Amino acid sequence: MKEKVTTKTFLEFKHKREKIAVLTAYDFHTARILDQIGIDCILVGDSANMVFYGYPNTLSITMEVMLYHTKAVANAAKRALVVGDMPFMSYQVSAEQAVTNAGRFLKVGSAEAVKIEGGLEFVDTVMKITTAGIPVMGHIGLVPQSIHKFGSYSVQGKTPEKEKYLLDSALGLQEAGCFSIVLEAVPATLAKKITESLQIPTIGIGAGVNCDGQVLVINDLLGLFEEFKPRFVRQYAKLSEDIKSAVKNYRHDVKEGKFPSAEESF
Ligand code: KIV
Repeated sequence: MKEKVTTKTFLEFKHKREKIAVLTAYDFHTARILDQIGIDCILVGDSANMVFYGYPNTLSITMEVMLYHTKAVANAAKRALVVGDMPFMSYQVSAEQAVTNAGRFLKVGSAEAVKIEGGLEFVDTVMKITTAGIPVMGHIGLVPQSIHKFGSYSVQGKTPEKEKYLLDSALGLQEAGCFSIVLEAVPATLAKKITESLQIPTIGIGAGVNCDGQVLVINDLLGLFEEFKPRFVRQYAKLSEDIKSAVKNYRHDVKEGKFPSAEESF
């Protein structure tokens, strides 16, 4: 096993210009595979609400459910840094609420850091959390918890005002103590500018190749979701086809009395 990845390692990665590979996971076995293969950071994303539970957005997942998945992932991760994604309404009401819930990710979920969506307007909150000794990964650009404010999952930062807001947000979050920042669905040129302006690493999703690292939702990478493939996703497998074929063969064997065989029986 290579050395344990910590938030300090993230800064070293940036310094050495070594790209950071991040993936989401929501369960023990998947997390163990990612950890064994050398994924640097496992994000227990609130995307679990969509890809694990089948809801149309991330809004309804609760702290309890996020902690449940975070514990499973943390039990598997020996080397990777484990980041718990703070769910909608677990940090927006007050800084006190945010610190308490961020602390629960570390105390109950065994995460090593939390992720928070939002820019300039959350700088004070992030400052309070990092002051409490809890590492924070920022997340700006397309922030899915604000889907009803945006109206659609579209690319952000396309006007000079929005570009300025995102750059100022990144600098503000760095100042507040974030150890890295996710840039989601922002033009590649802007992501490059932000990345070059920061001492801390950027982790892109739909933000081009010049970020310091990349993150994808594991279900997208594995081709488990057939209905729609966003432009920024690369499918490295077609697992839904493999699962269908395996299950079809099993069904056939059961129906035909070909499973189990004598060797598979007692
Ligand atoms: O919830 C999630 O999986 C995320 C990543 C896509 C960055 O926030």
